[in-house]
Amino acid sequence: MQRIFSGVQPTGNLHLGNYLGAIRNWVRLQNQYECIFCMVDQHAITVWQDPKDLIRNTREVAAGMIAAGIDPEKNILFNQSTVPAHAQLAWIFNCVARMGWLNRMTQFKEKAGKHKENASVGLFAYPNLMSADILVYKATHVPVGEDQKQHLELARDTAQKFNNDYGVDFFPLPEPLIFGAATRVMSLRDGAKKMSKSDESDYSRINMTDDADTIALKVRKAKTDLFPMPDTLEGLEDRPEASNLLGIYAALSDRDKADVAAQFAGRQFSEFKAELVDLAVSVLGPINTEMKRLMDDTSHIDAILKKGAERANAIAEPIIRDVYDIVGFLRP
Ligand code: AMP
Ligand code: TRP
Repeated sequence: MQRIFSGVQPTGNLHLGNYLGAIRNWVRLQNQYECIFCMVDQHAITVWQDPKDLIRNTREVAAGMIAAGIDPEKNILFNQSTVPAHAQLAWIFNCVARMGWLNRMTQFKEKAGKHKENASVGLFAYPNLMSADILVYKATHVPVGEDQKQHLELARDTAQKFNNDYGVDFFPLPEPLIFGAATRVMSLRDGAKKMSKSDESDYSRINMTDDADTIALKVRKAKTDLFPMPDTLEGLEDRPEASNLLGIYAALSDRDKADVAAQFAGRQFSEFKAELVDLAVSVLGPINTEMKRLMDDTSHIDAILKKGAERANAIAEPIIRDVYDIVGFLRP
């Protein structure tokens, strides 16, 4: 059986990178796989979250997924903390994965920055919880953006080591699914930085909750250079900001980047940006309206997440029971 698991942190500001790198792909996969999508609230608290914001953001991410086209009947949608088996398996993986493996994780280095000694233990162990999220459902495929590739390699190594150590063929080795024209959307202010929820400048990203005027303003202010659009992609090699905007256009219109470059060849970026605004508003506008409508009735979202938790628990509980038996935890 082919099963998908993927997650998003409910830390606010769901943005265009989340949409193009992850959520839109999930919408497309929902008819081919059994899918489980999770608001990973336990991952979120690896850095400080105000409790009220965490609750609101958990609902908002769920609303974003549904508004983007994920069918909550067909797929399982829930928040991580409602399924205890994630944390139970994460502890076991804390004892399987090695310090050296986690020490190599670039996301930890980026997030902890210069203050490594002051980072939470949870932030360091975060990839083990992520491995547990996936493997507690024996998921086979994990659709994510480019930035999660290293964490998935660790999940595969952990599954393999568990199987070897205990002499079982229990966990599958999950495959990443990274596809589309925008697997790594960059900041609108700095083409060397990825678009992220936590960038202090709101002008660095397009949020899924931004209205048409805000999108227009952010695209107009997006950093570019003085040159017009080249006719081939080679002409964009040392122009990260221009290349990023072109990638966003290609992804939003479901076309090839080279094809879009050829269409705008020789034209100024001011003209290109005007068309990008129209395109972004036409794709994000309806999602935005639907998100707002869903957020007006939180009881509907909560009912979906409650049902999702029941369905998720029904899959995860027998798997964690088997894991406990394999490990040798006495069940008196
Ligand atoms: P996060 O916001 O870190 O929880 O990410 C949720 C999903 O969005 C993951 O699959 C990420 O890989 C993806 N993602 C986050 N930021 C970007 C980005 N700038 N470009 C493409 N995908 C992204
Ligand atoms: N670490 C992922 C991110 O920051 C979120 C995540 C948590 C996830 N658990 C997961 C993604 C399991 C895929 C599968 O984006």
